[in-house]
Amino acid sequence: MKRRNIIGLLLLGTACTPVVESLQQEEVLVLEQEGLNLPEAPYNYSDYTLPRHFNANDVQEADNGDNAPISDWGATLGRALFYDTELSQNRTISCASCHQQSAGFSDPARFSVGFEGGLTARNSMGLSNARYYERGHFFWDERAEDLEEQVLMPIQDGIEMGLTLAELVDRLEADASYSVLFEHAYGSSDITTARIADALSQFVRSIVSYQAPYDEGRAQVQRPNDPFPNYTQEQNLGKSIFFGRGRCDNCHDTDLFIMERPRNIGLNMVYADQGLGAVTGDADDNGKFKVPSLRNVALTAPYMHDGRFASLAEVVNHYNSGIQPHPNLDNQLEQNGRPRRLNLDQQERRALVAFLETLTDPVLLEDEKFSDPFEDN
Ligand code: HEC
Ligand code: HEC
Repeated sequence: MKRRNIIGLLLLGTACTPVVESLQQEEVLVLEQEGLNLPEAPYNYSDYTLPRHFNANDVQEADNGDNAPISDWGATLGRALFYDTELSQNRTISCASCHQQSAGFSDPARFSVGFEGGLTARNSMGLSNARYYERGHFFWDERAEDLEEQVLMPIQDGIEMGLTLAELVDRLEADASYSVLFEHAYGSSDITTARIADALSQFVRSIVSYQAPYDEGRAQVQRPNDPFPNYTQEQNLGKSIFFGRGRCDNCHDTDLFIMERPRNIGLNMVYADQGLGAVTGDADDNGKFKVPSLRNVALTAPYMHDGRFASLAEVVNHYNSGIQPHPNLDNQLEQNGRPRRLNLDQQERRALVAFLETLTDPVLLEDEKFSDPFEDN
């Protein structure tokens, strides 16, 4: 390499790599006093390489123009906020109460319990790979325009956390550990709503799943349809139904298994919750809901926006023989103008479930950097 290039690289290195300050001894003590256990040097949230098949599929990051890049300290601050019950009025509920790591960052309950015991109107959503939802809209009805907007909504929600943003800023200002964390994340200890939104979003964006058995198999073959060497016969059968006869990938597309546009999948002839239709006021949107990523789906039971199905077997039964007629039923799920019937036999239905279970990423679910950093929680 020419010397000029080496110097160029060195300069580039100093200009682009932010100086990652480790926690000082006094700072560790401050955090410990607040019950917060963090490593002196932050975990790595920002530097990872997606497997090639993600790129081959043109998986793009959501970009609404204002997404801050992830920094290790920014996501660390976000992690503390995500697990902190100070974010709810009576200090009983954190984001993680309804988005549990062991459940793919969703809630095993059909409806989640809010700070005063009230129930949410919908089933909690898993958070894996939100970063790569290109459209960048959030919630089952996509009413949040981007993640920065979304993360502040549960805090202010009258059922979920019930706090005003002004109250939250006051609380965090009174907590010495947050001045340490904001300082490391942003270079000054000023606590603002915009920084809170940014840090929480950084943490949520850092929850990326790419190390499931599916990824291991996908890396070894040319196309998703090819049999995966690491799969059992049953899992490969299920995969061939998912990408073949079932055409599940028409909507659960790319290696994220998502689709950019809410759909009606014929759960009801008349929906109690109109989903997107209630947001847009357009009857053509009634019964349409976000297509959730199927990453870690085996852990995010119960299923659908209203948590009506307790198991993946029930979900598969729906797509196999339970689809209801509806004026907005997606045409992928129709055949000759009527709800499609897949006619899978029992072995094939089981195989489809077995395939969905290979989307579970054990690394993500046990990774310390996404776990609860508070001692007393
Ligand atoms: C009391 C339970 C509860 C709490 C607390 C809670 N959530 Fe949620 N979360 C839900 C439910 C329920 C939904 C789906 C709501 C809907 O679509 O109307 C959801 C949806 C989301 C989504 C949308 C995911 C997607 O793919 O569209 C994100 C992101 C999210 N929550 C992050 C958070 C963060 C960050 C916090 C803390 C600031 C938090 N949640 C607190 C229950 C909760
Ligand atoms: C027309 C688009 C479309 C097709 C085709 C489709 N899905 Fe879905 N899928 C959705 C939507 C939209 C939802 C959420 C619906 C709701 O909650 O109202 C969903 C939800 C799911 C869920 C529940 C996820 C969760 O977190 O609750 C699973 C599992 C699932 N689909 C698997 C499949 C399988 C397996 C197939 C193929 C047999 C399939 N889907 C075909 C659009 C589709």
